[in-house]
Amino acid sequence: MEKLAQFRNGSVPVDRREGLSPRELLHEYDLRGRPVIVDHARPWPALHRWSFELFRTRYGHLTRTVGGRTITLAEQIDRIHTSTEEDPAPYPFNFDLRESFPELLQDLRPRLSYGRRDRTEHALVPRPLLNGTTVHELFFGGRGSFYPVLHYDLLGMATQITQIRGDKEFFLFPPDQTPLIYPRTDNPRLSQVGNAFAPDLERFPLYRYVKPHYARVREGETLFFPPGWWHATWIDGPSITYGRTVLNAGNWRRFAREKYTNWRRSNPMLALPAFAACRALGLMLSFTELL
Ligand SMILES: [Fe+2]
Repeated sequence: MEKLAQFRNGSVPVDRREGLSPRELLHEYDLRGRPVIVDHARPWPALHRWSFELFRTRYGHLTRTVGGRTITLAEQIDRIHTSTEEDPAPYPFNFDLRESFPELLQDLRPRLSYGRRDRTEHALVPRPLLNGTTVHELFFGGRGSFYPVLHYDLLGMATQITQIRGDKEFFLFPPDQTPLIYPRTDNPRLSQVGNAFAPDLERFPLYRYVKPHYARVREGETLFFPPGWWHATWIDGPSITYGRTVLNAGNWRRFAREKYTNWRRSNPMLALPAFAACRALGLMLSFTELL
């Protein structure tokens, strides 16, 4: 893990902005393709109501399989509290919030917005169009839990990460560092490097030149980052993270392109008409959003 300390010390700090207005978020960060840490989530009921005890009591029976082992959320919460760097709690341990805890969605309001209508829940966007991504996700981890595989998020989505409990570190790499990250040929949104914190520099010599942007997202804060940013994460204490993907007029074209790539693989005959329909839907949504 020799890169971890190096990344923490030699990285570009992500801006932390209090009281950033939606307009400033749009113009200074989203449109410029830059990440930022914001405090919009401070009023969320989740920050006052959600605890490890709540999840253990109400949802302890839910299970996930990590590394071939199926464990309950109650077991994971026990592991989180005894987790160490030498023996970390399994990770990623995550749930689709809409499927597993739909009644909790109301605790995540008001939504973070920045002057563009979110299309993930738009009535005109068919739900199956979003297959392949989880819009609302909860992650549970403990000290030493980490997700070291550099990747960027699916379907051209922008990402909002809010720490409901504890802190989490993000190591982010802008799209212009892609050649240093060795994308896989079969799945170019994943890096071949493997563990971003313990790379094999003989196999991946250019990786020594990467320069991450660093964000320690504290409890109650939200990290926003644009589509296409590579990232890996590290946790140093009990943590509950809410991840939210965002689709709007700003990233619809990229979304349609990535859908087209998927359709070409799964159903080549329908890929082009589906892509054309998706682009037309984007134009129609843009028109209705003007009204
Ligand atoms: Fe991710």
